[in-house]
Amino acid sequence: SKYDFGLVGLGVMGRNFILNVADNGFTAYGHDLDEEKVNALKEEGGDLQKVDASTEVNTFVQALSTPRKIMLLVPAGKIVDAVIEGLLPLLDKDDIIIDGGNSFFTDTDRRESYLQSKGIHFFGAGVSGGAKGARRGPSIMPGGSREAYKEVKPVFEAVAAKFKGEPCVAYLGPKSAGNYVKMVHNGIEYGLMQLTSEVYDFLHRAAGLSNDDLHDTFAQWNAGRLQSFLVEITAEIFKQQDDQGEGRLVDKILDKAKQKGTGKWTSQNAMDLGIPVPSIDIAVSMRELSALKEERLKADEIYSRPDIRKMDQETAVKIAEEALYFAFIITYAQGLHQLSEASDEYGYELELETIAKIWRAGCIIRAALLDDISRAYDAEKGLTNLLLAPAFVDKVKSTVESARALVSFAAGSGIPMPGLSNSLTYFDAYTSGRLPLNLIQAQRDHFGSHTYERIDMEGIFHTEWGA
Ligand code: 6PG
Repeated sequence: SKYDFGLVGLGVMGRNFILNVADNGFTAYGHDLDEEKVNALKEEGGDLQKVDASTEVNTFVQALSTPRKIMLLVPAGKIVDAVIEGLLPLLDKDDIIIDGGNSFFTDTDRRESYLQSKGIHFFGAGVSGGAKGARRGPSIMPGGSREAYKEVKPVFEAVAAKFKGEPCVAYLGPKSAGNYVKMVHNGIEYGLMQLTSEVYDFLHRAAGLSNDDLHDTFAQWNAGRLQSFLVEITAEIFKQQDDQGEGRLVDKILDKAKQKGTGKWTSQNAMDLGIPVPSIDIAVSMRELSALKEERLKADEIYSRPDIRKMDQETAVKIAEEALYFAFIITYAQGLHQLSEASDEYGYELELETIAKIWRAGCIIRAALLDDISRAYDAEKGLTNLLLAPAFVDKVKSTVESARALVSFAAGSGIPMPGLSNSLTYFDAYTSGRLPLNLIQAQRDHFGSHTYERIDMEGIFHTEWGA
């Protein structure tokens, strides 16, 4: 008999996803050109009635029940197009292709309309949670045709992570809505990671926390309101011994952060939409800055920074916890604001409460905060910025002072905390009824007759400055 679900790309993500599908009562068939990967899956899958695989695309396609549900877990870019072209002549009308990679959203739109013209449904579905998530339950963010989603829904709901029994997957909207939401998920991921690294730096250098102290601190935080996957793994990281030598592994890791583009795309597109996401922008910039290691070493010799003031551990841990919580809120607020604007601009019809809900488990940015966030959007449909949600006012008011204390301490000590300070500055600007950008308007009009509006009169004005 034929298999329920097909998957192309049997790297670790693909292999784990397919095993997850099989664990949940479906039969699944894999395809990869690499024979080793095909064999690895067959071995791990055990019973070939449940999981099988082939290096032959034809065998693969013929093994699937119709309408075929074929998920691609291959690197974003040209490979996706190549795989689609290979499948296309073998498919039947109404078969479904699901791209589970981090494809750029405009590529997904292009592929969707191309495949529509061939009678094939195409889904861009973000999958988050890394290798473990793929195996034990990822968060899945599908977008595409609502009609075709019904076909894949049972499989996705079965394999997805569960938050209190609710599957972390939902149909998000037409076209590239799924890839877009995943892109912003990753932008938020970059922001939260940058913030976590800053707090680590501060606690270590200003308050002298050892790796064991850092482990304890992050583990404690993870038991409170900061509970989140990233805080949890951070605690674990500080414990890891270096198996190549003495000490902890974290201290031996080169401080150059790599990136595959999704954070940068989030920032770039936020600029296109005209939505400020400075906590995400700076996280991308810091990865770029970190990569300039050689230059940093030279500059480090030329310039001296102030001596790092010392702060007692108890105070440091307390203000760091509050500041981190504050900045996490600000980062989610910016990402969700971008999603709300993108929804209007691209016709995604996104429901932000649904997105926050399916981020509560399985994905990299899962956090206790997301339950509060989903409630806030549930209470007020059409809420653009989380900072305007009544339920968040106290959370922000009660932690912002620690963000201020930490930013000024860090500035005085020459510890770079740009994620935190950008988050704070964003907050101060967003909550300022009046900003000094009246001056910018005056300058624009002065040098370029760009005109300005007034606070006391309707209309568009221009002045012959200095005349
Ligand atoms: C996820 C992650 C994942 C992403 C990595 C690496 O949700 O599981 O977002 O999709 O590929 O986080 O991203 P960078 O290499 O850009 O850091």
